Amino acid sequence: RYSKMSVEEMVARVHEIKNLLGKRLFLPAHHYQKDEIVQFADVTGDSLQLAKISAENKDADYIVFCGVHFMAETADMLSADNQIVILPDLKAGCSMADMANIHQTERAWIELQKLFGDTILPLTYVNSTAEIKAFCGKNGGATVTSSNAKEMVSWAFDQKERLLFLPDQHLGRNTAYDLGVPLEDMAIWDPISNQLIFDGTNLEQVKVILWKGHCSVHEKFTVDQIADFRENHSEFQIIVHPECTHEVVRASDLNGSTHFIIETIKHAEPGTSWAVGTEMNLVNRLAQQFSDKKIVSLNPNLCPCLTMNRIDLPHLLWSLKNIIEGKVENVIKVDEETKKYAITALNRMM
Ligand code: 13P
Ligand code: SF4
Repeated sequence: RYSKMSVEEMVARVHEIKNLLGKRLFLPAHHYQKDEIVQFADVTGDSLQLAKISAENKDADYIVFCGVHFMAETADMLSADNQIVILPDLKAGCSMADMANIHQTERAWIELQKLFGDTILPLTYVNSTAEIKAFCGKNGGATVTSSNAKEMVSWAFDQKERLLFLPDQHLGRNTAYDLGVPLEDMAIWDPISNQLIFDGTNLEQVKVILWKGHCSVHEKFTVDQIADFRENHSEFQIIVHPECTHEVVRASDLNGSTHFIIETIKHAEPGTSWAVGTEMNLVNRLAQQFSDKKIVSLNPNLCPCLTMNRIDLPHLLWSLKNIIEGKVENVIKVDEETKKYAITALNRMM
């Protein structure tokens, strides 16, 4: 639709519409967004920061959310009823969030109750649909982000003997392990075969049930890549996101949320070298921002989040133009029943 406009024209038009709408428009962007979007962001943040900021902003009529679908759903649930949340491209989803749907989860819950009775608490990473969040809210559980996973898993163990962690097995495993749960006490729930995968003999031993989901971006970092840095570029420190596999997290020097990665690199000594295991747009931006340090991706083939990258300048302009023309499209609206319980889960976390 905008193929005839140059990038400069599109940039100028976005600025123009932003000025026209003023405070009526709020434009949050996740750290993984492209620079062509981040340049317009009113605020950038990780999932936890964006969830909190969306809850605080009560001025804007329109929240044009530059991130993925589950984040826009959260923004809708935490914003005021009169605020309209727009996702510039509805195909900007999250493959991890799509790995747990509500039917699979309800089906799994029935089986898990048969195996473990009322001893399980469900926790879901915020990278999940509003329906999964609502499921957790209804069943005494809560949401988790990579910034507060340890606190939330500890909290879950204060409530119940064991927990079901959705949908990212790696964040669940890495967090539980850091809190002292041995790998032998963790089982995997396979939503396709609807079965528990557990190597041990005594089910009583299972303390953490990990949903078999993963992030297609972070799973691409490998121990071989780390070994290559150790052997050939030993001056590099390795820092990764806990959505990476357990082996990668253990082999790295540091691991933590997007916020942790940014803060660590920001405060690192000038002249230090960092190989970073997270999304490519963020790594490239860190390299530009902190040019006194050497910052590269741990994965030589780079690794964009393809769905995040669906939000681009033409889609942003299209959404903004729709607003001023009074034909708002791509509105994200979570139904009231789902919202009620999903907010319970979010509030328990916040
Ligand atoms: P955080 O923003 O919570 O670090 O999560 C990373 C991510 O993969 C977002 O989709
Ligand atoms: Fe989902 Fe991974 Fe992309 Fe984050 S980086 S939105 S978890 S696919």
